[in-house]
Amino acid sequence: MLRSRITGTGSYVPEKVLSNSDLEKMVDTSDEWITERTGIKERRIAKNLQAASDLGIEASKRAMHSAGIKPKDIDLIIAATVTPDMPLPSTASLIQGRLGAKNAAAFDLNATCSGFLYGMAVADSFIKTKGFKKILLIGSEVLSRVTDWEDRTTCVLFGDGAGAVIIEPTGQNRGILSTHIHSDGNLWDLICLPGGGSRHPASKESLKDKLHYIKMKGNETFKVAVRTLESLVIDTLKANKIKPSQLALLIPHQANMRIIQATAKRLNLPMDKVVVNIDKYGNTSSASIPIALDEAVRTDKIRNGDYILLEAFGGGLTWASALIRW
Ligand code: ACO
Repeated sequence: MLRSRITGTGSYVPEKVLSNSDLEKMVDTSDEWITERTGIKERRIAKNLQAASDLGIEASKRAMHSAGIKPKDIDLIIAATVTPDMPLPSTASLIQGRLGAKNAAAFDLNATCSGFLYGMAVADSFIKTKGFKKILLIGSEVLSRVTDWEDRTTCVLFGDGAGAVIIEPTGQNRGILSTHIHSDGNLWDLICLPGGGSRHPASKESLKDKLHYIKMKGNETFKVAVRTLESLVIDTLKANKIKPSQLALLIPHQANMRIIQATAKRLNLPMDKVVVNIDKYGNTSSASIPIALDEAVRTDKIRNGDYILLEAFGGGLTWASALIRW
């Protein structure tokens, strides 16, 4: 049976660190509040000249190196992002051009924080049904550009970064076992960035009203996220007839430590089987899972044959999961 498999991973985060104590000087907040409510201690901030494609290219080079492939080998590039360099062309096209991946098709995918796992679902089916051989899947975000640095309810949460994987076909009984994607657009206004699109194009008013920044109803989102993720992870394991005790690792989207802990508890998983890096990077939306996956691979947390569960929840609302046998 043809399956698709991750053959290389890479990630990149900007050098500049913004700590909770830095934020204490910017808004009315405290390290104690941020740590207790979110688990975040610091986040990375891109340089002024760095856009999503710049971060994505660095992560992609590392993923290609780890898979042992060259840009010309790639036949598809998917960039998951909510902070593209510009509305058009796609960030994936910009990455394709600059990598010299001349044989690749390229497009962006926006499913907010679930974007990387939506991208994995697309890549998996393109490999199984369309004959693609080497897909570069990227999650790259410069959320610091769409963050209102005067709004303490959101500015403590987000960070910048990128992660990437190479996905290839395999005839072995391993790789991506299943992907699961969902949405509920009726709850779109729990997390949104209203300005800059065709509904509220850039204008003096939209700038004055700060429509170009992420707005989030955090507490309502939190409750839906916990409930939704708990049933998502159980359903994903059931679909594969896998027991929670068989999981080697859970790699969750890094939005809030308390959400991560609630999901782990539902699965009865000890926290040493959960990849957590929210303390270092905050919420990097579509980049958070591929960064965490790359760190797990590079620190030898993953062995051949391991069952790994990935899950995410974000604006849309969207939520998604994937079960992988490494
Ligand atoms: N520092 C100090 N106090 C704060 C801060 C802050 N940075 N932010 C909010 N508060 C205050 C609030 O004003 C409120 O005060 P009040 O009680 O006097 O009104 C109090 O803290 C509690 O606020 P809540 O919003 O109820 O706090 P909560 O415990 O829910 O934590 C948080 C907020 C961290 C945002 C949490 O709700 C959360 O993580 N939500 C989910 C986020 C998520 O999963 N998003 C999806 C992905 S994001 C994407 O798709 C781009």
